[in-house]
Amino acid sequence: MYDTAKTIVLNLVYLLEKYGFVPNGARSYYTNRSQPPLLSSMVLEIYRATGDVEFVRTVFHSLLKEHSFWMSEIHNVAIADNHGRVHNLSRYQARWNKPRPESATIDEELASKLNSMAAKEKLYCEIASTAESGWDFSSRWMRNSTDMTTLATTYIIPVDLNTFLFKMELDIGALAKVVGDNATSEFFLNASKARHIAIDSILWNSEMEQWLDYWLPGDADCQEVHEWKPNSQNRNIFASNFVPLWLNAYHSEFVRFADEAKSNRVMASLKASGLLHAAGIATSLTNTSQQWDFPNGWAPLQHLIAEGLLHSGSEAKKLAEDIATRWVRTNYAAYKATGAMHEKYDVEACGESGGGGEYKPQTGFGWSNGVVLSFLEEFGWPEGKEIAC
Ligand SMILES: *[C@@H]1O[C@H](CO)[C@@H](O)[C@H](O)[C@H]1NC(C)=O
Ligand SMILES: *[C@@H]1O[C@H](CO)[C@@H](O)[C@H](O)[C@H]1NC(C)=O
Ligand SMILES: *[C@@H]1O[C@H](CO)[C@@H](O)[C@H](O)[C@H]1NC(C)=O
Ligand SMILES: *[C@@H]1O[C@H](CO)[C@@H](O)[C@H](O)[C@H]1NC(C)=O
Ligand SMILES: *[C@@H]1O[C@H](CO)[C@@H](O)[C@H](O)[C@H]1NC(C)=O
Ligand SMILES: *[C@@H]1O[C@H](CO)[C@@H](O)[C@H](O)[C@H]1NC(C)=O
Repeated sequence: MYDTAKTIVLNLVYLLEKYGFVPNGARSYYTNRSQPPLLSSMVLEIYRATGDVEFVRTVFHSLLKEHSFWMSEIHNVAIADNHGRVHNLSRYQARWNKPRPESATIDEELASKLNSMAAKEKLYCEIASTAESGWDFSSRWMRNSTDMTTLATTYIIPVDLNTFLFKMELDIGALAKVVGDNATSEFFLNASKARHIAIDSILWNSEMEQWLDYWLPGDADCQEVHEWKPNSQNRNIFASNFVPLWLNAYHSEFVRFADEAKSNRVMASLKASGLLHAAGIATSLTNTSQQWDFPNGWAPLQHLIAEGLLHSGSEAKKLAEDIATRWVRTNYAAYKATGAMHEKYDVEACGESGGGGEYKPQTGFGWSNGVVLSFLEEFGWPEGKEIAC
């Protein structure tokens, strides 16, 4: 469905040109809230499948615009490592200080626990920024995992956001070559190199053998350079800590994100993490009744990690197959039982959809459909294995 894929991208590009970023959805009240930046990945996949250079030419400058959005003052944070080298990384930050229009009552009720107007506005900004991350909601963004008023997403340098931006820089570097702009290509390949170094200097934890979100101080001024502190890495285990493995699926001419030895250590750490369950990878280890926490498993996280493992060496490939098999099996069992695909699944119970959160989930479900199709194409129907749970 190349035409459909292209027109979806053209719709997103239209919104990007109009609002300066890809909004959280095509609704007027999302025009102050972005989303995880994966547009460049979509463009590159379309180009790989179709070889359509004209299409790349049409959208190329919009990708540069999205990149500068994520490098802008409110998103870019400079952190000096142990050796005094300054690195740039990015964070989520919605330009919004009101209740979310789609959940105004819930947000006002939550904010009523706070006294000052300034504190309420700050909370509203944190809520919208969390929605921007896609992980709404999760203990990952909270200072106190049982108290939603402690959401602090804008104080966090997220592993996954910077993984996506590294990928964006790599993609723009490749697409610039396609349109014959060698200088821009070199600039973005340099930028991806710098972000690779930044991710490994600021987010990598060599003791835990995984990448960790980095927390800025509570009184953070985003204009200043922060000194890196080991205790500011969030040592809680989230599936996002393993998302950079995904980058192993995308070689550039000068860099492989993690070599096989390092990837194997990350894989061992994933195996020991407590995230792997009978029916997939859990989002976190904590059951908070938030939907981006235990015991929910989400299709994009299974996909990012399994795709990464698949390109990380022969040991890792086996684990990728195992994860994909478990995921296909639980999706199939739930489909047989309910006649529908689901937004999220319970990783402890094969065939069960997930729960928690603030809304009644819709069935359908785009990203679950996409990931199951991708796994089936990549790994085939789990041969010789029981399809039922
Ligand atoms: C970090 O960002 C600042 C501001 O955009 C820029 O001046 C600087 O060159 C960047 N540093 C690196 C190492 O990319
Ligand atoms: C949305 O962003 C615009 C432009 O930055 C700003 O003027 C407006 O106040 C923002 N709206 C809210 C509710 O924060
Ligand atoms: C976390 O929030 C809960 C309220 O949900 C409160 O009872 C508890 O004392 C808080 N914990 C800390 C360490 O502040
Ligand atoms: C751009 O680089 C390619 C090699 O990657 C080269 O073949 C081409 O001539 C260069 N174009 C320009 C305009 O320098
Ligand atoms: C890319 O990095 C190299 C090496 O640091 C530097 O010589 C070159 O000028 C950079 N190119 C661009 C376009 O920034
Ligand atoms: C998670 O917590 C909720 C609320 O306390 C509870 O109903 C549910 O059974 C728990 N799930 C698991 C898997 O522990």
